[in-house]
Amino acid sequence: MSAASAPGDTEEAEAGPSLQALVERLADEGFAIADGIVPADLASALSEELRGHIAAGRLAVAGVGRDDAFRRDGEIRRAAILWLDAGTEAERRLLAMTEELRLLINRRLFLGLFDFECNFIAYPVGGFYGRHLDRLQGAKNRVVSFVTYLDADWGEGDGGALRLWRSPDDHAEPAATVLPKAGRVVLMLSEEIPHEVLPAHRPRHAIAGWWRINGA
Ligand code: OGA
Ligand code: MN
Repeated sequence: MSAASAPGDTEEAEAGPSLQALVERLADEGFAIADGIVPADLASALSEELRGHIAAGRLAVAGVGRDDAFRRDGEIRRAAILWLDAGTEAERRLLAMTEELRLLINRRLFLGLFDFECNFIAYPVGGFYGRHLDRLQGAKNRVVSFVTYLDADWGEGDGGALRLWRSPDDHAEPAATVLPKAGRVVLMLSEEIPHEVLPAHRPRHAIAGWWRINGA
């Protein structure tokens, strides 16, 4: 990172070049994937925290939005969630990074992203999430989606890949197939990029979040 910074340029100087590159790809492609965004010690602290919440029975079975156009008969999702509340140092470190991303995204895409909500997700063995868009929830519109992963040493044979497509009409081969490896971050335009999680063959731990616009 450059040490040079002009007065009034502090946000620019604080933002790591890797976050800027990620946002640049989001602007070009509608989605972006990068490794090493969440430092290993932070991913492991978040993983440990999530395991504690699971052991204490704090997660709730995840539902699917009432107005989800991709909902089919039967189960679309098998996972459990818990909202982050910035109650730990690890959560605050992650939220500081997502705030940095919010500012970069707003500067590059003029989206007026206003706030961020995110949850831990625990997929059991056999857990999955069918193809969907991250659309409306309650009164506030989800505009950009964030996903990061908490499991080190995830391999091809562990299943649980995230697959995404370029647009709601795109039913061809996925544009990207992403193994849920710790430190990896995925950004997507919430209303444009359909995605799914294939069945996991071992417990799978993630954090998903959404930047929203005000009053939509
Ligand atoms: C979601 C989601 C992706 C993942 O929670 O909406 O798409 O890889 N998660 O867990
Ligand atoms: Mn999703």
